[in-house]
Amino acid sequence: MRKNIVAGNWKMNCDMAQTQILIEALERAMPAQVNCEVMIAPSTPFLFQAFNLTKGLSIEVVAQNASAHESGAHTGETSLDMLASLGIKTVIIGHSERRDSYGENDAIIKAKVHAVIAQDMRVIFCCGEHLETRKAGNHITAVTQQVEKALFDLKPEQMKQVVVAYEPVWAIGTGETASPEQAQDMHAAIREFIANKFGSEIANETSILYGGSVKDSNAAELFAKPDVDGGLVGGASLDAENFAGIIKAF
Ligand code: 13P
Repeated sequence: MRKNIVAGNWKMNCDMAQTQILIEALERAMPAQVNCEVMIAPSTPFLFQAFNLTKGLSIEVVAQNASAHESGAHTGETSLDMLASLGIKTVIIGHSERRDSYGENDAIIKAKVHAVIAQDMRVIFCCGEHLETRKAGNHITAVTQQVEKALFDLKPEQMKQVVVAYEPVWAIGTGETASPEQAQDMHAAIREFIANKFGSEIANETSILYGGSVKDSNAAELFAKPDVDGGLVGGASLDAENFAGIIKAF
């Protein structure tokens, strides 16, 4: 059975004090029984603090980004070895904000995906189309191309370390959510595409998360769709009650 996952991407929010406050609030708000994997991705400087604060809780601390380079002259970057030394086991790669604002193209994202896998970590690989692409009716082709370019040189065994997050760019931070049907259609297309390359067993084991204005009030209807295995949550993950509400949707 593939895993259901609710992951909070805090993006560039929360300083040291706020990181502690939010994790403690989340600890209080978490349901007694959690029926999915829960992850939070704080900013890089506070990963160690978050890692320590979540010890004993059913919350995995994951990184928002990493360098594909091993070490050396890469000012401002964080290596996978460094993240591993903190105990990090999962890294988000290919977020549209990294693609659009930091020049991460398909080749860079592919290199990062391969580096994460080589480090024996899990990757949350993000893909998603812009509004113009959807309006032109090319959204499935655009997203499956992103999947192909980043993932299709992996070995089938390595695909088991990949979680896919479909995040339509027009739904990120806009309050506009893809309808459950739009999410399901894309998730089913991604799964079929993965099945054609890696086989249906691996495709069926791959968790595909939806991201884009997920909140406690819309999570249940999204997660009810057969190919939506959870959410990658931005804004609502900064509110412990709201995030806990999303976790409770499973
Ligand atoms: P929002 O939930 O704020 O729309 O952000 C989604 C996202 O980008 C998660 O990675």
